[in-house]
Amino acid sequence: MRVTDLALNDFRSYRELVLTFDRGVTAFVGRNGQGKTNIVEAIAYLATFSSHRVAADTALVRRGTGGAVVRAKVRAADRDTVLEVEIVSGRANRARLDRHPTRPRDLLGRLAVVVFAPEDLELVRGDPSARRRFLDEVIVQLRPRMAEVRTRYDRVLRQRVALLKSAGAAARAGRSMDLSALDVWDEQLAEAGAQIIAARADLVARLRPHVAAAYREVSGYGGASGGGDGANTNGEAGADPAFMGDQGDARIDGRYSLVGAEDGPQPDAAVLAGVTGPDTTDPELAARQRAAFEALESDLTDVDRNAERLLAALQEARSKEVERGVCLVGPHRDDLALALGTMPARGYASHGESWSYALALRLASWRVLRDAAEETGVGDPVLVLDDVFAELDSRRRKRLATMVAEAEQVFLTAAVDEDVPDELGGARVDVSAGSAVPREAPGERDDDD
Ligand SMILES: Nc1ncnc2c1ncn2[C@@H]1O[C@H](COP(=O)(O)OP(=O)(O)OP(=O)(O)O)[C@@H](O)[C@H]1O
Ligand SMILES: [Mg+2]
Repeated sequence: MRVTDLALNDFRSYRELVLTFDRGVTAFVGRNGQGKTNIVEAIAYLATFSSHRVAADTALVRRGTGGAVVRAKVRAADRDTVLEVEIVSGRANRARLDRHPTRPRDLLGRLAVVVFAPEDLELVRGDPSARRRFLDEVIVQLRPRMAEVRTRYDRVLRQRVALLKSAGAAARAGRSMDLSALDVWDEQLAEAGAQIIAARADLVARLRPHVAAAYREVSGYGGASGGGDGANTNGEAGADPAFMGDQGDARIDGRYSLVGAEDGPQPDAAVLAGVTGPDTTDPELAARQRAAFEALESDLTDVDRNAERLLAALQEARSKEVERGVCLVGPHRDDLALALGTMPARGYASHGESWSYALALRLASWRVLRDAAEETGVGDPVLVLDDVFAELDSRRRKRLATMVAEAEQVFLTAAVDEDVPDELGGARVDVSAGSAVPREAPGERDDDD
């Protein structure tokens, strides 16, 4: 799929902007602060209703105005659809589909966008919440229905925690409190939580091989089985895990709170030992643990069993929860463990490795969405690379350029032309002081369209 037209009104620094795009690469080039990221942020917003830069939509509306409009024409499977969202400060979004008013959520799933941006270093270095958000955003793009399940889960969780807190306070004050309301929240938490856990387990399994492959492709690291283009080269600033010998594969694993839950369900003690135990440096043991873990992961894709297990775990944990006033079990406590060889990426990976890892996660999600295009019906997602190339050395730039050449449409931003690899070709748009001017009209270029 691709975006053929984009129109912005009062979005970020743009009073009005109209652009048309071809398939392939479009690079926005301009000095810092000129409004490059603002454009790609607008495109991504239409796909997810969220920004990769801010949690609240207020910052998206041009200062001094009351609302912003983002409109795009999307071509997928030879059909054009016009998506429009109006962001009104302090109020719910309004949406239009082919110019007819509709619910915002009906726009979800019609445009798939994967964004890689500097903020993504958080995926490797930040809190588990960044990684949960990463998984959940891909899940919603795969299955838009899950957006509502997540919202429901968050709401039930908040209400349950509030109740736990007041129960805890009552207990400390020596008063007793009727806890039967908790049973209702438990049921609802288990119902929504079970679906989230299942979706994450399924996604992690799908992502895993793509993350390993993308990391190898970006870093040039040859992988445990060799291959690649000159593995473990020294002399590239802090990027190739030369010192890791042949153990530098990127490997992701879900850390599901349900599995490790204290007094929670213990599906298989041997598996649990593998999952929650320290990562081993013994390759044979590591392989056994992985196999056991993957079996468990596939088991976790069973929604009904998850719900039963969650309920049981919640019941087990209840007295502790009341004591501490927190909800101890559920997908809000999941994490995604990122390993490089035998070491966790967080705390061990260098800057270059962390960057490559974050990029590999995004590229993997893009490939998963692309592979799922038939089931989701949205088609090959649009790829956005915000300020990526400046961080990479020339070899890595070349490799990344080759990887993204597979995409039907790629938007990227760069401060100067030299940061865009020559291999990429495509269109250039000069961005300066709130205006964006295509360097040559689309159509004048050779195009495979
Ligand atoms: N809501 C808003 N209203 C008006 N201007 C805004 C708003 N939000 C951001 N801006 C302005 O937009 C500019 C930043 O644009 P953007 O982040 O797209 O820059 P950029 O070209 O990507 O820069 P860099 O190369 O540094 O990443 C800033 O000057 C900022 O003040
Ligand atoms: Mg920027």
